[in-house]
Amino acid sequence: MAAAFTWFHLWLFSCLAVVSMAKAQDPDHFIFNNGFRNANLKLDGNAKIHSNGLLQLTNTSILLTGHAFYPSPTNFNTSSGSARSLSFSTNFVVAIVPESEEASGHGVAFVISKSSDFSHASPIEYLGLANESTNGNSLNQFFAVEFDTILSIDMNDLDDNHVGIDLNGVKSYRQVTAEYYFNEERKNIRLNLKSGDSIQVWIVYDGQQQLLNVTLAPENSPKPDQPLLSTSIDLSDILMDTMYVGFSAATGSIESCSHYILGWSFNRGGEAQSLEMSKLPKLPKNDGRRNMVRMISIIAAVLLLLIIIGAAYVYWREKYGELHEDWEKEFGPHRFSYRTLYIATKGFKDKQLLGSGGFGKVYKGTLPCTKEQIAVKKVSHESGQGMREFVSEIVSMGRLRHKNLVRLLGYCRRKKQLLLVYDHMENGSLDKFLFSVEKPTLTWFQRFQIIKGVASALLYLHEEGEQVVLHRDIKASNVLLDSDLNGRLGDFGLARVYDRGGDPQTTRLVGTLGYLDPELTRTGKATKTADMFSFGAFLLEVACGRKPFDPEKPSREIFLVDIVKRCWTRSAIIDAIDPRLQGNYVAEETEKVLKLGLLCSNPNPDLRPTIKEVVQYLEGNASLPDIPLDTAQNIPFSILETLSQSTEINISTANNLASDPVIPFPSLAGQGLSQNSFSSTNSVLHIGR
Ligand SMILES: *[C@@H]1O[C@H](CO)[C@@H](O)[C@H](O)[C@H]1NC(C)=O
Ligand SMILES: *[C@@H]1O[C@H](CO)[C@@H](O)[C@H](O)[C@H]1NC(C)=O
Ligand SMILES: *[C@@H]1O[C@H](CO)[C@@H](O)[C@H](O)[C@H]1NC(C)=O
Ligand SMILES: *[C@@H]1O[C@H](CO)[C@@H](O)[C@H](O)[C@H]1NC(C)=O
Repeated sequence: MAAAFTWFHLWLFSCLAVVSMAKAQDPDHFIFNNGFRNANLKLDGNAKIHSNGLLQLTNTSILLTGHAFYPSPTNFNTSSGSARSLSFSTNFVVAIVPESEEASGHGVAFVISKSSDFSHASPIEYLGLANESTNGNSLNQFFAVEFDTILSIDMNDLDDNHVGIDLNGVKSYRQVTAEYYFNEERKNIRLNLKSGDSIQVWIVYDGQQQLLNVTLAPENSPKPDQPLLSTSIDLSDILMDTMYVGFSAATGSIESCSHYILGWSFNRGGEAQSLEMSKLPKLPKNDGRRNMVRMISIIAAVLLLLIIIGAAYVYWREKYGELHEDWEKEFGPHRFSYRTLYIATKGFKDKQLLGSGGFGKVYKGTLPCTKEQIAVKKVSHESGQGMREFVSEIVSMGRLRHKNLVRLLGYCRRKKQLLLVYDHMENGSLDKFLFSVEKPTLTWFQRFQIIKGVASALLYLHEEGEQVVLHRDIKASNVLLDSDLNGRLGDFGLARVYDRGGDPQTTRLVGTLGYLDPELTRTGKATKTADMFSFGAFLLEVACGRKPFDPEKPSREIFLVDIVKRCWTRSAIIDAIDPRLQGNYVAEETEKVLKLGLLCSNPNPDLRPTIKEVVQYLEGNASLPDIPLDTAQNIPFSILETLSQSTEINISTANNLASDPVIPFPSLAGQGLSQNSFSSTNSVLHIGR
C-alpha cells in the first residue's frame, strides 16, 4: 500500500517537474520560486546569481549597474488586434540592502524593454535604464516600475523612498511614496524600501482598460486588498512583438545598496502565479548592516540587563543597605542587620508605629528567628566624627543590666539613620497613663512602685555602674511599663546623639522643657544634678498627674512646680495631688514625693539631693530634711521657662538672658518673644516627644 503511494507520488512529481520546466521555457508564462540557478537569465554589469539561486543585481560598490533579463523575448502579439494581448501580470520579491544603516543608493526597476542591451546606460539616478542624452527618448522604448531610494532633484523625484512608473526615461510618469495597504486596519502603512528586508511586488496591467496596478507588501504579509498605485496608462506604443522582461539596478556615486531579486513569476495575458515565500533563496547573512543591527541589539540587551541589575542593586541598597565601618567589627554582636529589622517591623509600616517624637519614630517588631518582641527606634544622625564614640557608648550601655532599665539589645546604622533596638515594653510609656484618658488611672501604690523603680535605675546609672551614665532626659514619656506595670527607664544616654556634629563652641542642649535644669542652659554641661532636676519634675508629674510644663494653662499654672510650691507655702502640699486618685493614697508617701520633687527642683544645683539620698528617703531609711519655706518661695522663674512656644533657642542668647536674673517671666512673655528671635542652626533645644 505504502509502496504504491510512493510510486504514484514519484510519478506525479516527475510530471509536475516536466510541466514546470516546460513552463519555465515559455517567455509568456514563467515562475522562479526556487532561485534563478537554472533560469539562464541574460545578465550584465554587476549582476550575478548566487549559489543558492539568489539574483544579485548590484553589490554595494559605487557607480555600478546590473541587469537581468529573461533569455527570450515576450511577444505581445500586436498583430492580433486585441488590446487584451497587451495585458500582463508579474509578481516578484525584491530586497534592497544598504551598505550601512544610513547608506542609500540608488534603485532597482522592473523593466519591459525592446532592447536588452543597456551597456550605454548610466548608474546613479539613471538606474541603469538610460543615460544623460537618451533619457526620455521614445526610441528607448521601455516601460519600468522603479524603486528609488534617493531623492534626485533633476528627475523631479518625490522623496527618497518612492515607487515610480517610467516610460522611456527615469523622469517618472507617476510616482508615490512607498506604502502598503494593511488589510486588517484598512489603512496604508509606510514601507521602507531599503530596510534590507524582502518586499513583495505585484504589477498588473489590463490592456483593455489600460489600467496599471502596482501593489507592495512586506515579506510574509498577504497580498493587500488595495494597490499602492492604480493608474490608467496606454502602453500600446511600447509593448511590441519582441519585448525583453527583466530587472535593472544601479548604485550611487557616494554610497550604495545591494539589490537582490529573490523570486519572480510572469504571465502575459493572465494572472501571474503567486510566489511561495518559504521556498525563496535566503539573503546573505553576513551582511554588514544586519551584523551591525545584531550587534547593536546585543549591546542594547546587555546595557538593559546592566541597568536592570543596577536598578535592582540601588533598590536593594535603598531598602536594606547599611553603613559599615571597620571600627564597628568589635561591636559585631550588638549589630543588627537592617534586613532583620526591616522584616521584624514589617517594613517599618505605620501600623507598627509605637510613637514618635523629638528623637525619631519607634516601631514595634518581632525578631524573625527568636520571635522576641522588640522596639526599634529610628534616630536620624549625620555620620561623622564622634559616631564611633557614640556607638561604643551605646554598646557599653547595652551592657548595663538593671531590672528597671529598658534593655538595649543592639543597633544598626544606615545612611543618616541610627536604629536602636530595645526590649519591647508591653504597656508603653508612663505618660499615656498619667495624661491621657485612653489608659486606666494608676493607683497610688502603682505610682509609688514606679517612682521607686525609676529611682533605683537612676541610682544604678549614677552610682553603681563602672562608669557614671547621665540619662539627660528623664521624664514620664521615657519611662516604660512592662506587663506587670513596673517602671523601666529607657532612652538613657540617647541625648548624646545631638552632641555630635555641631559647632564645638556651642553645645547642643538636649532635654525637655519643664524637665530641663536652668543651670544646664547656663553652663551647657550635663551633670548628675541636672538629671536630678528632671527627676524632680518627674516626681511631681507622677504625683500630680499633669505635665510639668503646660503652655495651654493660664500663666500662673503653666509650671507644675509653681502650683506645688504654692500649695506648700499654704502648708497644704497634699492639695497638689492628682484628683483622679480620689483621695486613695498614703498621705505620708505623697507628701514625701511632692517635697522631694520640690527639693530636686531647687534652682541651686548644690542644694538638690543626690539620687542616693532620694532612694534612702523613699525607702524610709532616712527622714526628709525640712524644706525651709523661704527656699521654696525663692524658687525663681527660670528664664528658660519663659520660652513657652519656641522649639529652638540659641544658647548664647539664652546664656545672656539667663545671666540676667531681673527679667521676670510675665514681662518677657508680654514682649512676645517669637520663635524667630531664638532660632539658631547650631543649638537646638528639643521639646519632648
Ligand atoms: C562588487 O562587485 C565587483 C565586481 O564583482 C567587485 O570588484 C567588488 O569588490 C564588489 N564590491 C563589494 C563591496 O563586494
Ligand atoms: C496572436 O494572436 C492571434 C489572434 O488572436 C493568434 O492567432 C496567434 O496565435 C497569436 N500569436 C502568438 C504568438 O501568440
Ligand atoms: C547614451 O546611450 C547611447 C545609446 O543608447 C549612446 O550612443 C551614447 O553614447 C550614450 N551617451 C553617453 C553620454 O553615455
Ligand atoms: C486595479 O486597482 C483598482 C482599484 O483598486 C481595482 O478596481 C482594479 O480591479 C484593479 N485591477 C486589477 C487588474 O487588479
